[in-house]
Amino acid sequence: MSASSENLDLFTPVFKHFRHLSDKDCLIQAYSITTHPTLFQQCPLNISIDVDSSLGLQPISTWSLYSCKFSNGLYFLSNPFTLNGQRQWINRCLNNYARQTRTSVGDNSDNQNLTRIRWATLGYHYDWTNKIYKQDDHTNIPDELVQLSQTIAQVISSNTNCPMIYPEAVIINYYHLNSTLCAHTDHSEYDALTKPLLSISFGNSAIFLIGGQTKTECQPSPMLLHSGDIIIMTGTSRLCFHAIPRILSDPFLNDILYKNIDDDNDKVCWSYIHDKRININLRQVYT
Ligand code: SIN
Repeated sequence: MSASSENLDLFTPVFKHFRHLSDKDCLIQAYSITTHPTLFQQCPLNISIDVDSSLGLQPISTWSLYSCKFSNGLYFLSNPFTLNGQRQWINRCLNNYARQTRTSVGDNSDNQNLTRIRWATLGYHYDWTNKIYKQDDHTNIPDELVQLSQTIAQVISSNTNCPMIYPEAVIINYYHLNSTLCAHTDHSEYDALTKPLLSISFGNSAIFLIGGQTKTECQPSPMLLHSGDIIIMTGTSRLCFHAIPRILSDPFLNDILYKNIDDDNDKVCWSYIHDKRININLRQVYT
C-alpha cells in the first residue's frame, strides 16, 4: 500500500454518498434487520426486572437486541418503547430538557427558541470549543433519564459482556430534515471510555454511519435508525468515528405516533417533530 492510500479518508466519501442519495436508495442501502438480516446477530434476553411505567417501555420479554457484526461492540435495540412512551419522551425533550439555559441558542427558559435549538445538555456540560467536560459545570440529570439508561443497560449487560453505565452527561441533539452531524469520536469522557454510550432516536429516521478509530481504517457502515431505536456503543465501537449524514422523512410517523390524538400538548409536539428528529445520548464521564 502506498503512503498516500494509507492516509486516504474512507469516511467522507460515504458521508457524501448518503448525503445526496434519494430516500428510496438510502432505505435500500442502509443496514436494517429487514434489509440486511445477516449483519445482525440476535442476543437472547433472559432477565426479568420491574420496569417503572413512567419509562414508557414495552415488557422486556418483547425486546429485540442484536449485536452488529459490522462494528465490534455495537449493539442495536429495536424500538423498546410503547407508542405513548415515545410521545412522552418527545414531550420531555421539547418541554423539559430544551427549556433551560444550556442549549445551542443560549437561554431557552421560556421555550421561545425551540425550533432553532440544535442541542441541549444535562449533567456535566460539554465545552464544545475545548472539547472537554468541566467538573464544576454540572446540572441535574432528571431521574427518569437515569432510570431509563440504567434499565436498558441492566438488561443488556446481564445478557452480553457490555458493562453497566451510570449517566453523568446527556446531550440531546435536535435535527431538522436537512441537518447533518459530522464525523467525530466521543473521547472526552476521561476514565470512562470503557463504559458504554447509549443513543436513543425519536421522530424521523436517520442514517447513522460508524467507521473505524481513524477515518482511514475502513469504510463506515450505514445503519438505519427509526423512532424509538437505541444503539449502545461499547468495546471498540465506543472509540470509532460516527456521523449522521442524513435525516429521512418517515412517511408513517403520523400514523405511528400521533394519529387520532386530541391532546393539545401532543398536537404541539407533533407540529415540532413531524419534520425533525431528536437523539438523546448518555455517557459516563468521570467514574
Ligand atoms: C451523536 O453521535 O452525538 C449523535 C448521533 C445521533 O444523532 O444518532
